[in-house]
Amino acid sequence: MKFDTPAGENAIDQLKVIGKPVDRIDGKFKTTGTAPYAYERHDAVANQAYGYVVGSAIAKGRINAIDLAEAKAAPGVIAIVTADSAGKLGKGDMNTAHLLGGPVIEHYHQAVALVVAETFEQARAAAALVRVDYARAKGGRFDLKEEIKTAPLKGENSGEGSAAPPVARIGDFERAFAAAPTTIDATYTTPDHSHAMMEPHATIAAWDGDRLTLWTSNQMIAWGKSEVAKTLGIPKEKVRLVSPYIGGGFGGKLFVRADAILAALGARAAGRPVKVALQRPLIINNTTHRPATIQRIRIGAGPDGRITAIAHESGSGDLPGGGPETAVSQTRLMYAGANRLTSMRLAVLDLPEGNAMRAPGEAPGLMALEIAMDEMAEKLGMDPVAFRIANDTQVDPEHPERRYSQRQFIECLNQGAVRFGWNRRNAKPAQVRDGKWLVGMGMAAGFRNNLLMKSAARVGIDRKGVVTVATDMTDIGTGSYTILAQTAAETMGVPLDKVVVLLGDSDFPVSAGSGGQWGANNSTAGVYAACMKLRESVAQKLGFNSADATFADGKVRSGNRTADLKDAAGLSAEDGIEYGDLGKKYQQSTFAGHFVEAAVDSYTGETRIRRMLAVCAAGRILNPKSARSQVIGAMTMGAGAALMEELAVDTRFGFFVNHDLAGYEVPVHADIPYQEVIFLDEVDPISSPMKAKGVGELGICGVGAAIANAVYNATGVRVRDYPLTLEKHLDRLPPMMA
Ligand code: MOS
Repeated sequence: MKFDTPAGENAIDQLKVIGKPVDRIDGKFKTTGTAPYAYERHDAVANQAYGYVVGSAIAKGRINAIDLAEAKAAPGVIAIVTADSAGKLGKGDMNTAHLLGGPVIEHYHQAVALVVAETFEQARAAAALVRVDYARAKGGRFDLKEEIKTAPLKGENSGEGSAAPPVARIGDFERAFAAAPTTIDATYTTPDHSHAMMEPHATIAAWDGDRLTLWTSNQMIAWGKSEVAKTLGIPKEKVRLVSPYIGGGFGGKLFVRADAILAALGARAAGRPVKVALQRPLIINNTTHRPATIQRIRIGAGPDGRITAIAHESGSGDLPGGGPETAVSQTRLMYAGANRLTSMRLAVLDLPEGNAMRAPGEAPGLMALEIAMDEMAEKLGMDPVAFRIANDTQVDPEHPERRYSQRQFIECLNQGAVRFGWNRRNAKPAQVRDGKWLVGMGMAAGFRNNLLMKSAARVGIDRKGVVTVATDMTDIGTGSYTILAQTAAETMGVPLDKVVVLLGDSDFPVSAGSGGQWGANNSTAGVYAACMKLRESVAQKLGFNSADATFADGKVRSGNRTADLKDAAGLSAEDGIEYGDLGKKYQQSTFAGHFVEAAVDSYTGETRIRRMLAVCAAGRILNPKSARSQVIGAMTMGAGAALMEELAVDTRFGFFVNHDLAGYEVPVHADIPYQEVIFLDEVDPISSPMKAKGVGELGICGVGAAIANAVYNATGVRVRDYPLTLEKHLDRLPPMMA
């Protein structure tokens, strides 16, 4: 189905099942431990052996020699894979470094060997006996602050998402900034972050002749299938990926990682199935992370609070061949202003590979931009909500002929302000005390683009009238199973318990997959398209005119004729959604207002969040319960980014020091207070037949800055370097009253 004109009234608008806060249909499997995750597929294939990964002990250099004699002689060892024995390996288009290193080492903990043994313990013990003789290269580049000084401008590599050029200029920024009566010029930094998903990257690999099956944990099945084929140098048709349950991805499982490739190589070497989970202490340096940024923002405005000049220049680093963190993307789109400059610089760093994590681009970009907006509002003597409203735009400021399909940004801010009691905020910082606590309120705007991606599905009907949906879409904990079932139930006119959804198998039609908050809108639209095609066949088979047949209550009706849907048993249809140029004609984005109350201990400097509110405008909300869960989870990640998450870089040896869940701090329940989420009543007929948009990543975008602004309002101390840990403001806190 081609979607190239705005959606009219359609089957989804019945809203019998769609739009209802139904429970997650996979919930009971998750809570009873019966949802099989990749590493637990004991039943998938017999005779599984265990692989244990050896990671490089240096960041940059070469392997002189590997001595495997002791390891090979250890109890239970079946095979050992190294670059020497693996045969010629390619590299996936989406991996910057090789997933099996040697003799050249590109980053710390790059895999250099896989030891396969009868048990996990034997594999681990033998891995400790692998002796690697390294030659550490001089001149490793590990310090972003140093390397960014000479780094060139660089745009985004990948074609997915909106194009991000190295520089975008509109008008004359320098002149307008020099002429503006009120300006700020400040630099903000965000550190390297790790996805820290619960389920490690894990794969069971089995060869059947030249056919490879991988039970794995991956967000993007079709990408994964072709990347595995490319890396191993085998035809795509010979590879099958199965990934029905995923214990969190956050961008860390968008791409095939070492577990999948090494399991395949290990299984080939061992002559039997092999399972590999990346060990937790290896994951952080072996896989990808969100790159640190250094962001300079300059804003100039007139006395009326209108922005006349805005510049956002971001620097980040990556391995050779990598790409920049696109932290300036939202600044090109969010606020009006005639004179604009955005740019990105990319330093070459020999740290592990940087890549997408939890709303790449906008999440770290808004952490900087929305503090800058708060600082600017204060300089102008304006309320931060009013300042943002004064600079709203209904068109893409770089391309004014492109309107937003929907932009209810002002409504988000206004509703949020009322709901949160924003009028009780004292605009002067450090004025409100509650015992030893300094208390403040802050807000920030949320913004995340809505991407259109092709997505297909197959739908069939059986003798009991059960509708089965099959698509390679994944559910990374987001609720895909549930909203796809709701879509099929709505479109085919059956109750939710008459729908079965099968996901995450590369034998199924190719979906949009899970990433960049594009999963929900596109994959449901794909199921809608397949259902509409199935309705045609059903109508034809049962002798109805499909144009006036209605599907409801398990029946097909037209005029005074009625038939049972199950009379069409055996029919199935495959179709998908494809987009015309609506996505180019209109700017499609999602919007939020984030509001936070925070308290800072005036003795210790410790920050506690007291209340959080997000008001979101994100098209039709397909399931308010799962959407709310997405947003409160995202707000929690925003709290992590604001207050605690940080990979500590060892700039001498080039690795992330705190590479486990003890050292990499994330929020726990006790850190998260009352959270409220409001969705505006919105449908966007330009987004898809579902009239929905993504919402998961919107929930994180802006949260970090809202917290930072609340902390500033509490203390009067402006911190511009994340995370806002206590030592960054402790010695500047206002003195306690007697
Ligand atoms: Mo997302 S960081 O694109 O999985």
